[in-house]
Amino acid sequence: MKLFDVYPINPIEIVKGIGSLVYDDKGTEYLDLYGGHAVISIGHTNPRYVKRLEDQLHKIGFYSNSIEIPLQKELAEKLGQVSGKTDYQLFLCNSGAEANENALKLASFYNGKKKVIAFRKAFHGRTSLAVAVTDNPKIVAPVNETDNVIFLPWCDEAALEQAFAENEISSVIIEGIQGVGGIQVATTSFLQKIRALCDQYNAVYIADSVQCGYGRTGKFYSHDFAGADADIYTMAKGMGNGFPIGAISIALKIKPSYGMLGTTFGGNHLACAAALAVLEEIEANNLMQNAAEVGAYLIDELKKFEQVIEVRGRGLMIGIELPEELSNVRKKLLYKHHIFTGEAKPNVVRLLPALNLTKAHADQFLEAFAQTLKAAQVPA
Ligand SMILES: Cc1ncc(COP(=O)(O)O)c(C=O)c1O
Repeated sequence: MKLFDVYPINPIEIVKGIGSLVYDDKGTEYLDLYGGHAVISIGHTNPRYVKRLEDQLHKIGFYSNSIEIPLQKELAEKLGQVSGKTDYQLFLCNSGAEANENALKLASFYNGKKKVIAFRKAFHGRTSLAVAVTDNPKIVAPVNETDNVIFLPWCDEAALEQAFAENEISSVIIEGIQGVGGIQVATTSFLQKIRALCDQYNAVYIADSVQCGYGRTGKFYSHDFAGADADIYTMAKGMGNGFPIGAISIALKIKPSYGMLGTTFGGNHLACAAALAVLEEIEANNLMQNAAEVGAYLIDELKKFEQVIEVRGRGLMIGIELPEELSNVRKKLLYKHHIFTGEAKPNVVRLLPALNLTKAHADQFLEAFAQTLKAAQVPA
């Protein structure tokens, strides 16, 4: 049997990783500013993480949600504390799409309504509802098409007000910073407007924090910059530092009932151990502060390059928009300088490194970036 060929891959086999460095099968060292798509939050093979998982594996790796799993309660407690959102309830699942799927469903169970507001260029995942609120027709199969989703322009307050006035809105789903959409930061006033309108119309504010959350921006959820709490936060990626785990954090006004949501694998012992190790590491080493500081440094330095059209983002979620002539910068960074970065259209280099990225590694990238732009010799 061969693999179902859906990924355009780089011909590199990574066999080892330590912190923000990874190594291929030939021993070549790479600086990882991509983190396997924002997943590696505390660094590869982090010792606390490895130990927690190893210890847990020797006890028990998995049992279903039909029994007591104290690690889940421990995780809920710790997540509440580190995120600063203690008055919430935790539901554990396995991925970002699943988290969003559950959030949208839960909102509809809560207020009995059907219409969802999502935004242009949004990405929320590939399961049926999550893909229906994703603004990319190429990945929406006919079976996923629905009249229940209203797409609005990004951060357009008048359009948002009008949509609420004209429809029975169940929920609004928004990334605090659009990732796949090219690192677009939601404005404070727009997030506050969503909060106000959701209160006015009994709708649910869903903060998709799958990519922009878990401390990456310097705050636990990037939506927190607006100072307005969401009703549901969805998360995954950095939560398990590579171990598949997702979750939704749910406001107390949304009440659970048996069977309302469910999953076989969600919240298993190993996944909880991984997530606890991540939170402990974030807390013990002030990783949110590091993300804010090293990120601010990178953003300031990147803004100095004349060929760069725009630098967007917060903390260690950074988008560098380049002119079309420089569309090969990512490849140069990877194959000449051995630095992994992400991409977004049109021509945006995305940086999504581990939250404990050092300033020395940030400088290594800046030097390689400078050399790459210089070699391209594009006039300013
Ligand atoms: C903002 C956002 N939401 C949801 C998802 C889907 O997450 P997953 O791939 O874990 O299903 C992603 C993945 O890139 C994402 O960036």
